[in-house]
Formats: sequence, structure tokens, C-alpha cells
Amino acid sequence: MGLNFLLLIAMVATNILSLYHLSTTVQHSPKPPVPPPVPDHLIRQLNTIRATISHLTRHNPSTSTSTTAAAKPTSTVPQDLLLHSQIGPIASSCHNHPDLLHRYMNYTPFSMCPYDPDLQESLILNGCHPLPRRRCFSKTPSKPSSSSLPLNPFPTSLPDSSVIWNKYSCKSFDCLSKNNPIGFDLNAQRASLLKYSSELDLPINQFMQLAKSANSPIRLGIDIGGGTGTFAAIMKKFYNVTMLTTTMNVNAPYNEAVALRGLVPLHVPLQQRLPVFDGTVDLVRCGRAVNRWIPTAVMEFMFYDVDRVLRGGGYLWVDRFFSKGVDLEKVYGPLIGKLGYKKVKWAVANKTDPSGLKHGEVYLTALLQKPTSR
Ligand SMILES: *[C@@H]1O[C@H](CO)[C@@H](O)[C@H](O)[C@H]1NC(C)=O
Ligand SMILES: *[C@@H]1O[C@H](CO)[C@@H](O)[C@H](O)[C@H]1NC(C)=O
Repeated sequence: MGLNFLLLIAMVATNILSLYHLSTTVQHSPKPPVPPPVPDHLIRQLNTIRATISHLTRHNPSTSTSTTAAAKPTSTVPQDLLLHSQIGPIASSCHNHPDLLHRYMNYTPFSMCPYDPDLQESLILNGCHPLPRRRCFSKTPSKPSSSSLPLNPFPTSLPDSSVIWNKYSCKSFDCLSKNNPIGFDLNAQRASLLKYSSELDLPINQFMQLAKSANSPIRLGIDIGGGTGTFAAIMKKFYNVTMLTTTMNVNAPYNEAVALRGLVPLHVPLQQRLPVFDGTVDLVRCGRAVNRWIPTAVMEFMFYDVDRVLRGGGYLWVDRFFSKGVDLEKVYGPLIGKLGYKKVKWAVANKTDPSGLKHGEVYLTALLQKPTSR
């Protein structure tokens, strides 16, 4: 809940900023249309954001004007953050977490970085992405023996030595596959992506058949919230399709697992613009990471970004999206509908686990095709 709230705040902040720019531009045009009045509380929030940003990026006001070496920093903002803010972008959401951001940027340049993967993960999940770069060496696992790096995306085991396990309660992939219900049992997940046991299933071979009969070649795609990359692994191994997998390291080394399978992990949150160009991919799949816990504004931006990267005739595949039944009808259905895609498949079924029954939740699995031209 806290995260959702923060995401919302971040979204509101971004919108206020654009509103602000809009209204200042409008005032300079010769015939100004009446700009919508900006409520006072939004103006106040905007001023707070602006003050934080300028504080962060301000040159250190030094009492001694001639020597920088002798000057004592008068603010608590880490020097490397000040320096970085002048050469690279810092997401506006970072400013909502100056404590975390300052901790992250507090390090000794040119030496080993502090070992702080949890800090990085929290910042990213709170929308602080891209993270500022750091001038230090990140700890990485020691060189694997060449024989331990699997060439097959379905290896019998993943090499434990390629992960720094310190922050996890499990210390091996074997432990993860026994304790983590989703993702780390590679073969179980593979079977679930290939089977048809309810209308919510769209087996990969059936999808490939549909695309083929629509004369729509599938070569390149993105799996959003793809966990350990099993979808990408099947697409690579059986269909020679290149999939990128966005995945976060929530309580387990998902990024490492994807990479160890020879697949591309993208360590980006759902708020982030997909790092590929417009109209370049044939397929975007959204797994269960996209669900009713994502604020609607975030989801709306995400779907329109998906539309941006899909080529004409490309597919959006929503796999077991869950929400309250009434919200699917009133909010999410219309939201997806606005994209104007062709519904190749649209299956809704009750979510029958205890939480699903309690909240009247449903699953949606949909295959949607982008119009061939816009
Ligand atoms: C994938 O590519 C390899 C090498 O180019 C080829 O031998 C194989 O038949 C291809 N498989 C499929 C399913 O297209
Ligand atoms: C799904 O759940 C609703 C109540 O939430 C119920 O009215 C409906 O009959 C259920 N449908 C099926 C197919 O079980």
C-alpha cells in the first residue's frame, strides 16, 4: 500500500510539473486561451518539489571562494550526487526519498562501492530510476569456470557461484527451487506455459500458430515482469525468438537467474519507459506482476508505452491479469479498450483462491493485436 501511494505521489508530481510548464508557456503566447486554474495545494506541492530539486542540484555554497580543497561541505548532499546531477538525469521520484538517495550516493569514489543491493532495489521500486551512476566498483561474483555457464536455457541446475547470496535467506538455487513457489523450479514453470487446462491458458505453441496464420512473424519481444525468464527461455529454445525480460530482484536473484540462462534481464520497474525504440518489437507479454496493485495511472502509462514499442500488427499478451470483477468491467477493460486493439482472445474467470473469493477477483487472459497502422 505504501508503495502504491508513493507511486501515485510520483505520478501527481510529474503531472504538476508538466502542468506548470504548460501554463507558463501559455502565458507568453499572444492569444492565451484561459489556462485551467491550478489548485493552491498543487502549487504548494510543486514549490516543495522545485525547492528540493534546486537544493539537490545547487552548487555547494562555499565560504572560501578561492580554494575548493579547503572548503568544508556545508550541506549534507553527497558530493558525488551533486556532481552527477550536473551530467546525468535523476528521476523526479528520487527526490521523494532523499534519505535513501543520499545513502546510495554516499561512498568513496574510485574504491569499492558499499554493498547495498536492497537500497538500490527500494529506490528503483519507488520510481527512482534511472539510478544515478556511481564512480566506484560494484561487487560482482568471481569469474565462473566456463563449464559452469549453461548454454541451454533449461539447464539441470544454475551455478550458485554466480550469485552473491549474502542478503538472501536461501544460499543456493536448489534452496530457492524448493522454497520459492514461482519461477525457480524451471521445469514446472515450463510445463505451465505450454499446457492448456483452462480458458485462461494460452499455450505458447497455440500463440505461435495464431501469429503464423495471421502472417505476423514473431522474432523479437519483451516479457514484462518475467521472473526467472522461463517464457523467454521457451521462445529462444523452441522458436528462435529473442525476448527481453524485465525483472526485479524481490527477495531472490531473478536478474542473475535470467542472465545465467543466456537471456537478457532488464532491471527496470513498471514505471520506466521501455528502453527500446518505437515500433520495434513483435510481442509484449505482461505476466502476473501487472495486476490490480499497480496504480491505474502507472498502468495507463505502461500500456501506452507498450503500444509505442509494438510494431503495427504486433501482439500484446496479458497473462492472468487479476483485479476485482467490477474494476475489470469499469476500469481496466475500458483502459485496455482505449488502445483500439483487436481482441484475438479475451477470457475472464473467477479467481478461486481464498483472497480471490474474499475480494471478488477475476483473472483476465487476453491476446490483443495492434492495428497495422496508426
Ligand atoms: C533455430 O535456428 C537454428 C539455427 O539457425 C535452426 O537450426 C533451427 O531449425 C531453428 N529452429 C526453429 C524452430 O526455427
Ligand atoms: C464468479 O463469482 C461470482 C461472484 O463473485 C458468481 O456470481 C459467479 O457465479 C461466479 N462464476 C462462476 C463461473 O463460478
